[in-house]
Amino acid sequence: MAKSLIDLTGKFVLVTGGSRGIGRAICIRLAEHGARVCFNYLRNREAAAEAEKLIAAVGGPEPISVRANVADDEHLARLFQTIKEEFGRLDILVSNAALGVLKPVIELREKDWRWTMDINARALIPLAKGAMELMGDRGGSIVAVSSLGATHAIPYYGAVGASKAALESLVRHLAIENAAQGVRVNVVSGGAIDTDALKFFPNREQILENSLERTPAGRLVTPGDMADAVLFLTSDLSKMIHGQTLIVDGGCSIVA
Ligand SMILES: NC(=O)c1ccc[n+]([C@@H]2O[C@H](COP(=O)([O-])OP(=O)(O)OC[C@H]3O[C@@H](n4cnc5c(N)ncnc54)[C@H](OP(=O)(O)O)[C@@H]3O)[C@@H](O)[C@H]2O)c1
Repeated sequence: MAKSLIDLTGKFVLVTGGSRGIGRAICIRLAEHGARVCFNYLRNREAAAEAEKLIAAVGGPEPISVRANVADDEHLARLFQTIKEEFGRLDILVSNAALGVLKPVIELREKDWRWTMDINARALIPLAKGAMELMGDRGGSIVAVSSLGATHAIPYYGAVGASKAALESLVRHLAIENAAQGVRVNVVSGGAIDTDALKFFPNREQILENSLERTPAGRLVTPGDMADAVLFLTSDLSKMIHGQTLIVDGGCSIVA
């Protein structure tokens, strides 16, 4: 049997929002390849406990989970302190957690905008800083998770789409500012994926139907597809890839 080209044994990983959906699939995929995983979550302790079990079940090192809001710098300081005490270092950060207000742009209140931007875009700044301090001279890989809303107009998605566009731009800037220190920063962006997040869209059914219809590959993207792309960008196979957005959408976004 062919040996996997990717071996993350001995690597320490933080995945934000790793308790459900795409984040959980990323935790499982990285653990399957030998990484020791820490993930955080916002509210749902039961989902976090279930995710810990699923990650541990792949047979790698024991995962840890921490309740921490990525939009709160004090929470993040505590999260990185836990990682320092438990792992002593960090090699990979996956900034995946996201939330946001779903409304037509004209209805967005100031607090809707700030809340969405703080969680989805600004959080990458303290996350990258905390991660790079624990990466030290060894460097590492940072991957942010984005969506087609960064470049495409999607009903109700104005605030989240703008936050994802800001996130992708931050990634490019972080990439050039830190490449010489051995830190790679990239984005994995995805088309519609049927996770809990989609339940908040008033037009969920329509999104899923349209996406399927418009996807040349003939099926919707899964959390596992996103996790595969993240795995690639955290591995040495992508060692000269800096500041890029890898789109996982079965070709949906290139259809005219
Ligand atoms: N679903 C899609 O169609 C789609 C497509 C492309 C890209 N994406 C992106 O993929 C990522 C994950 O989305 P998903 O669909 O997997 O979402 P999801 O199923 O709603 O899961 C969100 C995860 O993030 C955590 N979280 C949310 N806000 C947080 C905060 N402020 N601090 C810490 N943790 C927080 C949640 O924790 P709790 O369980 O405690 O709430 C949960 O673990 C997001 O960046 C999203 O934009 C999604």
